Amino acid sequence: MTMTRGLEGIVATTSAISSIKDDVLTYRGYRIQDLAEQTTFEEVIYLLWNGDLPTSEQLSVFRKSLAANAAVPDELFAMMKMCPLDQVHPMAVLRSAVSNLGIYDTDAERAGIEANQTKAIRLQAKMATLVAGFSRIRQGLDPVSPDPSKHFAENFLYMLRGKAPSDLEAKLLDHALILHADHELNASTFTARVCVATLSDIYSGITAAIGALKGPLHGGANEQVMHMLEEIGSIDWVDDYIYEALAAKKKIMGFGHRVYKNGDPRARILKDMARQISELHEDTRLYEMSLRIEQIMKAKKGLLPNTDFYSATLYHLLGIDHDLFTPVFAVSRTSGWAAHIMEQYKDNRLIRPRAEYNGPHLRRVTPIDLR
Ligand code: ACO
Repeated sequence: MTMTRGLEGIVATTSAISSIKDDVLTYRGYRIQDLAEQTTFEEVIYLLWNGDLPTSEQLSVFRKSLAANAAVPDELFAMMKMCPLDQVHPMAVLRSAVSNLGIYDTDAERAGIEANQTKAIRLQAKMATLVAGFSRIRQGLDPVSPDPSKHFAENFLYMLRGKAPSDLEAKLLDHALILHADHELNASTFTARVCVATLSDIYSGITAAIGALKGPLHGGANEQVMHMLEEIGSIDWVDDYIYEALAAKKKIMGFGHRVYKNGDPRARILKDMARQISELHEDTRLYEMSLRIEQIMKAKKGLLPNTDFYSATLYHLLGIDHDLFTPVFAVSRTSGWAAHIMEQYKDNRLIRPRAEYNGPHLRRVTPIDLR
């Protein structure tokens, strides 16, 4: 047996969903740049789950079923209202809410391709309503009901704000949702696959994945990037802050990647989107600070930004609360998690690796009164 820390370089499954090859990321064979430019998030969800882009007729049916499933049971909002609203992290609420959704789904324990497709639609549709609903509840406001006439991203911003976003804002969020939708065997997707490989249900798989995404080494990094930008405050302090942090061997959030060594292709697109929204708002402070951080990190550590770095500026300028950045990521990644869960069920084998034991061997038990 050979042991590889963090399973680096280990191929743990085959998958036809997304691929990272020569630093190019594709979903079902399509480059993410092309998908972001030419499709919508709903088309990408359909693609991830079905293997092909939808025809306009298929898309129309799919959109209708997402819209029809977007409302969440009142019990879920009642549960949220009982949380310690001034201290709880929205990712903890989302993790519990998705677990609770499973309790109210009468098909939760039903197996089979059709049942899982149905549950995937329910989960995907409700995820945005849950995140937006919690955001409203903690402000003392009522959740905004989903508007079936709106596209997914537009509706998400509408439910968060209580008013419709501009076309450009809806388009930028739609692109961001596409870019975050799937990413091969990342930590949260692997978690989801490990969970359902025991033949547990899809709600358990997505709940487990949310727990993994929450951590700052994974999806939680986007919120930490924002904290760092806030702490630095101005372009004048960037150099001192980053040099000091590197000297203290601290990690700079939003940089580095286990797989990409020549840069994350999503980060390049998100950088341009962050520039666009900064110019739209005539507020380039965070964007310029980010450019300088990127320069220093490249020169001093040879590290490039990952997907979380420029999403922080983008989400901030979309008016999204900083602790909702990772929940927004979860809304998007639900599509990828569900695709992987369904792929895992199709050709399942229990995922059960080994550990190289490095503890003491064959000790004698000392009777309790002699210990
Ligand atoms: N800042 C400073 N140094 C870094 C960073 C960073 N962001 N990332 C890696 N390094 C350094 C490490 O200190 C280490 O240096 P050493 O060999 O001198 O000890 C070396 O680069 C290798 O780093 P590891 O942490 O071992 O790399 P690994 O592949 O395990 O981790 C990870 C990848 C977790 C993404 C890492 O780069 C990191 O912690 N980045 C910051 C958190 C982050 O942005 N996470 C989001 C990733 S994208 C996503 O999940 C959506």
